[in-house]
Amino acid sequence: MDRKLPTGKEKKRYVTRMFTGLSGNYDLVNSICSLFIDHAWRLRAVKSLAACAEGRVLDLCAGTLPLSLALLKRTRGKIVAVDISEGMLRKGFSRIAAKPAGTRFAATCGDGEFLPLLNETCDGAMVAFGIRNLSDMDKGFLELARVIRPGGKLVILEFSRPKHPLFACLYRLYLRLVLVPVGTLLTGDRDAYQYLVSSIEAFPRPEQITLKLRKAGFTNTEYIPLTMGIVNLYKAERV
Ligand SMILES: C[S@@+](CC[C@H](N)C(=O)[O-])C[C@H]1O[C@@H](n2cnc3c(N)ncnc32)[C@H](O)[C@@H]1O
Repeated sequence: MDRKLPTGKEKKRYVTRMFTGLSGNYDLVNSICSLFIDHAWRLRAVKSLAACAEGRVLDLCAGTLPLSLALLKRTRGKIVAVDISEGMLRKGFSRIAAKPAGTRFAATCGDGEFLPLLNETCDGAMVAFGIRNLSDMDKGFLELARVIRPGGKLVILEFSRPKHPLFACLYRLYLRLVLVPVGTLLTGDRDAYQYLVSSIEAFPRPEQITLKLRKAGFTNTEYIPLTMGIVNLYKAERV
């Protein structure tokens, strides 16, 4: 079942094509596969960015914009969403454009490793379940450090492998025996769900991620395991 993960440009092409293909019912499948806990994870992440309530916040790897929507509800500042898949952005855009708060929102198709934003123009940034999909995560962290102003905040949500051995084993079984078949049934794309499982299992340990963040120019880095460590909430401050 282990799927060899693509790297470099091949990964970028694969990920863009895969998410564009999944965009039709991405939200529903995502929620079903995470037993509807994903909304609570995003809410927790948005609350931890409360300090930026008035500022300009980047939602990187914004997908169908669930995080942007949550940010618009809970903050009063501007939100700018960036995603490499135009199909994912389009899917979410109509939901936001119809809302009065939509005037505080802008979205653009772009690459997290070459952000289409000027230096130090964001008060904060968030990335939900996107960092794992970058071809060069270190480049993505450097880009985030470039566009966030000194003192600005970064919040990242990303899947992880639980540390408790028994729970880790059960979670592994869930990924392989439930998530892949259910995701395949709902989307017809088995390879996408095998990629998801392999990319979660290959993702670096949280201690390595906080080290990478410090190297990229962040301080006060920490991570908070959510739901027994299935997901980690990373927080960091731009030096
Ligand atoms: C798992 S989805 C997460 C979407 C959304 N943040 C959420 O919480 O549901 C990952 C997103 O990352 C985007 N992505 C992957 N590589 C990217 C890159 N290099 N630059 C920008 N977005 C990227 C994909 O197109 C996809 O929409």
